[in-house]
Amino acid sequence: TDSALIRNFCIIAHIDHGKSTLADRMLQLTGVVEQRQMRAQYLDRMDIERERGITIKSQAVRMPWSSENTGGTSHVLNMIDTPGHVDFTYEVSRSLAACEGCVLLVDAAQGIEAQTLANLYLAMENDLTIIPVLNKIDLPAAQPEKFAAELAHLIGCEPSDVLKVSAKTGEGVTELLDEVVRQVPAPVGQLDAPARAMIFDSVYDAYRGVVTYVKVVDGRLGKRERIAMMSTGATHELLEIGTNSPEMTASDGLAVGEVGYLITGVKDVRQSKVGDTVTQQRGGATEALGGYKDPKPMVFSGLYPLDGSDYPDLRDALDKLQLNDAALVYEPETSAALGFGFRVGFLGLLHLEVIRERLEREFDLSLIATAPSVVYQVTMEDGSQHTVTNPSEYPTGKVAEVREPVVRATLIAPNEFVGAIMELCQSRRGAMQGMDYLSEDRVELRYTLPLAEIVFDFFDALKSKTRGYASLDYEPTGEQPSQLVKVDILLHGDPVDAFSAIVHKDKAYAYGVKMASKLRELIPRQQFEVPIQAAIGSRVIARETVRAIRKDVLSKCYGGDISRKRKLLEKQKEGKKRMKMVGRVEVPQDAFIAALSSD
Ligand code: GTP
Repeated sequence: TDSALIRNFCIIAHIDHGKSTLADRMLQLTGVVEQRQMRAQYLDRMDIERERGITIKSQAVRMPWSSENTGGTSHVLNMIDTPGHVDFTYEVSRSLAACEGCVLLVDAAQGIEAQTLANLYLAMENDLTIIPVLNKIDLPAAQPEKFAAELAHLIGCEPSDVLKVSAKTGEGVTELLDEVVRQVPAPVGQLDAPARAMIFDSVYDAYRGVVTYVKVVDGRLGKRERIAMMSTGATHELLEIGTNSPEMTASDGLAVGEVGYLITGVKDVRQSKVGDTVTQQRGGATEALGGYKDPKPMVFSGLYPLDGSDYPDLRDALDKLQLNDAALVYEPETSAALGFGFRVGFLGLLHLEVIRERLEREFDLSLIATAPSVVYQVTMEDGSQHTVTNPSEYPTGKVAEVREPVVRATLIAPNEFVGAIMELCQSRRGAMQGMDYLSEDRVELRYTLPLAEIVFDFFDALKSKTRGYASLDYEPTGEQPSQLVKVDILLHGDPVDAFSAIVHKDKAYAYGVKMASKLRELIPRQQFEVPIQAAIGSRVIARETVRAIRKDVLSKCYGGDISRKRKLLEKQKEGKKRMKMVGRVEVPQDAFIAALSSD
């Protein structure tokens, strides 16, 4: 296709503002998916995504579009679906970099939300042409005038430039497609240069191996050609190249400005990395396209099988998931309390939740997860450096400095909740960076916050303090030195590794008291007194005691009945199986699970 006729665009929207519904309507209007094949949310293929109503993986669809309003010329629209959630900021930024324009979709009954804003900032950083659109104008609760003003104010256009559509009824969607043709610039690149194609997504398919989505920036890639990945120099043969409309359709090649897929037969998405540049092996480009970054796990958690004999299954399941997830990292870990498991790194909390759920659902595993921890950089007084992803591996000795990751957070809420949000952010060590009114009654607040404070139930606290009206988005911005200490929890003098935590020094006492009293409720009485202590190094900061009992179940049997006695003994033995020993103390597995839950 002549690149002058191509329009590459994406839709950015807050969750539930109707991105998938609009995408479906576009597929239908362009004739790519016929009415009778249409099922709701055609593009969200994973079940788990459908159930949770979120899109995790992005895909690209090619749609032909010609209409009288645009002179009747046939254009090619490539719609690139961006993942919606904060954890996947890097993937979002790569998808946006593959586009020249974006549709900024806002629910006409809700207005701009934090995710809309965060993605809009990314789109502006990538110099995309922005088409503001209000969706759901069919709703009785829609306030198109109010929110058109809000959008116009935000991006600096006239309220009359804001398009109004209903993805549900289809109203206004034809006009929107025409505007995409009119407003989004055609891609520009050098046709006779060596090929450079940017990978914006890479998905594992059980039958075909890895399917890599690219945008060709310069030159042309043809089938059967040998290609090289510029970040690693790895070379492959192009077994297949083509476009999705919406099913994969093979072609001879992709040239400047085109968007499509490649198949090379590799079996692991880490060999085809998002952000990397593809070129020809021979006579290829020497300079990669900018912006490549290795995925960096931000949050770590220990995952342990409830039943120790499931350990090999857990390993196999993680191996399988990793084929499709370059950001998932893990290594074996042993915990005195929980046995054999893995320390797993995630992009963020949602990523963690999704992986955990997939392990439990698709692989039928029951798991215990330790509290999520961020990555700390610890410098000792002797100059040595440690990267700590597991609090129980915090170095001993004199610490000179601890650095922790921080994020830039955007919060949006009706102005009656501003006080509550400020209070919450302050209690989580936040620093306010700015505040703006989007309209007379809705406010945007910007904070920097330690990531550790966000992974710990921030979202729930925000929702409950604002009755669900606030929205939050954030992106990592770097590190800061902080006054952090490691708190250990000891049972009968033995530290329980799974309960160690790195916390701000002002919060250490509260953490110690909370864990000690929680455990006192959860740990059954033993034959001896069990002190529960919270300590920073050798300094005890909180203490509780589980008093001793002498439990003699057999005394209930009044001699006599031997078989009854045996049954009771067996029952007791079975109960013990689900007990873990911490030093001399028996702890029921349930107690670990309960103590590790966040409330
Ligand atoms: P993903 O994040 O990709 O899952 O999509 P989304 O959350 O942006 O929105 P989705 O398309 O799933 O729509 C969210 C809800 O809004 C669904 O219940 C839709 O049926 C509904 N919806 C979408 N567009 C419209 C519209 O124009 N009018 C009305 N009344 N409802 C709509």
